[in-house]
Amino acid sequence: MESEQLPQIEQAEDRSAYEGVLRYYELAKRAEWQVRDLPWNDRPPVPEYKGNPQKLARRRDMWRSVVTQQLQADELAVEMATQLFRMAPDPEAKLYYTTMVQDESRHTEAWLRLVDAAGGRGEPDPYLNQLAQMQIEADTLEEKVVNMQVFYERLIIPRFRLIARSSRGTVLEDLCNRLTIDDGIHHGSGMAYARVLIEQAPEKTKKKIVESSNRMLPIFAQHALWRPKARELVGALMRDTDVRRLREDLETGVRLATSLGLDVSDVQIPS
Ligand SMILES: [Fe+2]
Ligand SMILES: [Fe+2]
Repeated sequence: MESEQLPQIEQAEDRSAYEGVLRYYELAKRAEWQVRDLPWNDRPPVPEYKGNPQKLARRRDMWRSVVTQQLQADELAVEMATQLFRMAPDPEAKLYYTTMVQDESRHTEAWLRLVDAAGGRGEPDPYLNQLAQMQIEADTLEEKVVNMQVFYERLIIPRFRLIARSSRGTVLEDLCNRLTIDDGIHHGSGMAYARVLIEQAPEKTKKKIVESSNRMLPIFAQHALWRPKARELVGALMRDTDVRRLREDLETGVRLATSLGLDVSDVQIPS
């Protein structure tokens, strides 16, 4: 290749591989909503119960802790999305990430209002902080896209559905339904971008992705099984269901990674 031909070649560069990412930008713009669209004045923030004061207090603490965990997750997501926006070299991805930064900020705004309405913050989940720390410190963009968008954004969706099902007729239900859609877009765009990145990545980078998933999985498992004091009792009752759900989540993760062309044969699923 002669160097004076380079500018021309660059201009004619084929960007069709990035069309998928661009489509998610358009989808995200169409799905955009505002915190004021939530039914703040027509519905209770979280489910309301009848019963003695102790029971009511227990229930309130339980819902506060559910809301706190999601608030914490979205606060961390703002940082991670911002980092993806800053690091992504491809214009299509950069454009897409402007929407993800806005989404995660808007989610945080909604949770902040909701946690206030539900009686204030509860106990933070220590494993969620660890997961975010690993993600922020990961070396390559590839690791970040795979761990956050391919795995985390996908694995959180059934949990939103579960919360929505248990909180019918509340602002919390409405918010979880919106987040199911938004995080579906975050995941889809991550799959589209990861596919292009991995196709172009050297073997060394692919190995790094698998290694970092291996470091992340045990902490993800602890995060998925963690319950604050307010939900310890429910936690104990739910443990079997939680373990089963976690196993399904991890299997989904392995399937997604395989479909992206990663060799995950030595990924260790925590027991
Ligand atoms: Fe979010
Ligand atoms: Fe998200």
